[in-house]
Amino acid sequence: MTQHHEPIGEDLLRGKTYASDGISVSYDPPRCTHVANCVRGLPDVFRPKERPWIQLENEASAERVAEIVRTCPTGALHYALHGGPPEAPAVPTTLTPVKDGPLTLRGDLVIQTPEGEVREVRAALCRCGASSHKPFCDGTHAKIGWKSDQPGGQASIDQRGDGHREEGQRADGAEQN
Ligand code: SF4
Ligand code: FES
Repeated sequence: MTQHHEPIGEDLLRGKTYASDGISVSYDPPRCTHVANCVRGLPDVFRPKERPWIQLENEASAERVAEIVRTCPTGALHYALHGGPPEAPAVPTTLTPVKDGPLTLRGDLVIQTPEGEVREVRAALCRCGASSHKPFCDGTHAKIGWKSDQPGGQASIDQRGDGHREEGQRADGAEQN
């Protein structure tokens, strides 16, 4: 039986971590699908054309940064407030199929991955079958033109490249789908 624990902010940090005095923000490139909620929410902090692309020093309020990180539907972005509460999982857990895209989840999640169990509060799971990072969506559905409303979810049209992404070519590659 799966053991559930209270999520702890730092448990959720994955990938490269950026820090200011009040908050740490982590970014896991394979999980980013360019939804760009982060860029729209705080354009001074999330700057895909610049390096580093996350510039926490441009926002004084760590709470505001946390609020925008929570709008990231894929879980590519996570945060830990220094001395503040961890992100609370949504109750009830919700599953939302995105048209022509992944199944997004919000809640108290334990996800089985090839690397073991992953605790999550937000995630986007592959529905098209073509992700190189299963069970997570890696944005390949858009590259292969997968359509969720076709019988069997046909994927084939508009195939470009080999479906693999260059490391770092997610939000920080600024190619929005
Ligand atoms: S990190 Fe990626 S998936 Fe998350 S909100 Fe930003 S662009 Fe979207
Ligand atoms: S649904 Fe996004 S890669 Fe499969």
